[in-house]
Amino acid sequence: MLRTHTCGELRIADVSKTPTLCGWVHKSRDLGGMTFIDLRDRYGITQLAFNMETNPALCERARKIGREFVLKVTGKVIERSSKNLNIPTGEVEIEVTELVVLNESQTPPFTIEENTDGGDDIRMKYRYLDLRRSNVRANIQLRHKMAQQTRSYLDSKEFIEVETPVLIKSTPEGARDFVVPSRMNQGEFYALPQSPQTFKQLLMVSGFDRYYQIVKCFRDEDLRADRQPEFTQIDCEMSFVEQEDVLNMFEGLVKHLFKNVKGIDIDIMPRMSYADAMKYYGCDKPDTRFEMKFVGLNDVTKSKNFKVFDDAELVVGICAKGCSEYTRKQLDELTEFVKRPQIGATGLVYAKVNLDGTIKSSVDKFYDANDLQKWAAKFDAKPGDLILILAGNADKTRKALSELRLEMGTRLGFRDQSKFSCLWVTDFPLLEFNEEENRYFAMHHPFTSPKPEDIYLLDDNKLGEVRANAYDMVINGVEVGGGSVRIFNKDLQKKMFSILGFTDEEAQSQFGFLMNAFEFGAPPHAGIAFGFDRLCSLFGGENSIRDFIAFPKNNSGRDTMIDAPSAIDEKQLKELGIKI
Ligand code: AMO
Repeated sequence: MLRTHTCGELRIADVSKTPTLCGWVHKSRDLGGMTFIDLRDRYGITQLAFNMETNPALCERARKIGREFVLKVTGKVIERSSKNLNIPTGEVEIEVTELVVLNESQTPPFTIEENTDGGDDIRMKYRYLDLRRSNVRANIQLRHKMAQQTRSYLDSKEFIEVETPVLIKSTPEGARDFVVPSRMNQGEFYALPQSPQTFKQLLMVSGFDRYYQIVKCFRDEDLRADRQPEFTQIDCEMSFVEQEDVLNMFEGLVKHLFKNVKGIDIDIMPRMSYADAMKYYGCDKPDTRFEMKFVGLNDVTKSKNFKVFDDAELVVGICAKGCSEYTRKQLDELTEFVKRPQIGATGLVYAKVNLDGTIKSSVDKFYDANDLQKWAAKFDAKPGDLILILAGNADKTRKALSELRLEMGTRLGFRDQSKFSCLWVTDFPLLEFNEEENRYFAMHHPFTSPKPEDIYLLDDNKLGEVRANAYDMVINGVEVGGGSVRIFNKDLQKKMFSILGFTDEEAQSQFGFLMNAFEFGAPPHAGIAFGFDRLCSLFGGENSIRDFIAFPKNNSGRDTMIDAPSAIDEKQLKELGIKI
């Protein structure tokens, strides 16, 4: 090895040793008589000292060395006269006696420091330099630890890691597929897996009993902070289990990760039905770090000549504790917030429960003190509280209030990224009606089992009411995982395909392999997949999953470093039989 120690290793106890270190020049300071260089590697930073008096030739050479040069140095460890107690090696420095420049470097396009001066675009273009920054590297190391701990837990529970193919036929998870043309079968395409869903089910038919895979998935969908076109799942499946077994097993995984990666004990993992999540939080992934539950107000607001409320399908509000002193300006800001096109509310009604117990609302014209006291009672509002109300179409209003709730949670400091609140959301609807296409879609995927007690509703044509044995794991308002109990009966699976609008031929041609497999003794099975990137970013206390992926794509799905996607040459196109 070229070195005896790393740059994060030397301490006061090592004084008078003569180590050899290798690393990058983080910073250098020329003080005339002395030149100091901070040498950096993955493990830390060690200060190198060059003395003009005792070794002028070496010091002259050191002065010419630029940022990010790669050095190999040997010297004596000495105690520093001015110590830096902020870093573990800060009590010592190396009095360098031998210096080898292993490689030179151009001046980097941004500073390689935690608080860099580089913007997003430039950092992505030079991602390999961005990855030298200690905070970015720490994210990737966290990811490694998460993967190790995941494997350790699942291995201890008898799960077997099996790789499934990447060149497949499309799996319908609801997003668009990325496709790959086949040279040997011209005019035909592989699809990249949106998830290994059908393969893991086939592995259950094969008797693997417990499968997992930390696996790349590909979805051609619009990108956001928590979505990448290629992302990673912890994908799992189990045989001979019921929903309860899956929830317990994977509650165990999440607790194991919190304990072993962050040293946090999570004792309770509450459950909430989809119906309750929608009713009390207006969304299927509520941030339960704080309460602020929705309260319906239709009964106490109607017939008072306030047309907005009278005409509304839903009048619903939240109570922000201790916010009655909000100023006109703050209330206007909230109104502007809910009126933004992404939120889409037409206006915001408020009622302040003043410290003297009187209530002042923005609709005093229609509601007297008595009415307003009834509202306050519904929220159990106390003097000092602020009630915020939206009204209109039920779905849209719930969605808008859910956003307002999150905004208030942020303003009130409830969304602390070092606090974690985990939740299972269960009993999702099996099917979701799509107005544009005028048909039902599977809310999770077509292999999800209806609740046995709801199967009769399929025959009664009450498709929207059928609940599924499907569940999501939500942490701090982020959907980190989702899964379901699967259909393992060929006839029920056939029926699902027909409800979803597949003809028998279409179902056979797309999923014949799975339905045929079900003819050969499929065991009852169920599973889940966690969004690994999302879990990592949550554990790292950040919103964007990009920072936890070594080489991510930008919001237009581009890798600007390697310049992909890019055109391919005529010859390649011809070989593939593709005409543009
Ligand atoms: P689902 O589609 O819910 O389920 O995906 C599982 C989890 O993967 C994460 N996820 C993503 N993360 C980053 N970027 C994306 N584009 C992206 N899309 C999804 C989410 C999500 O909860 N086969 C089923 C699982 C099963 O039924 O076992 C599936 O893929 O955190």
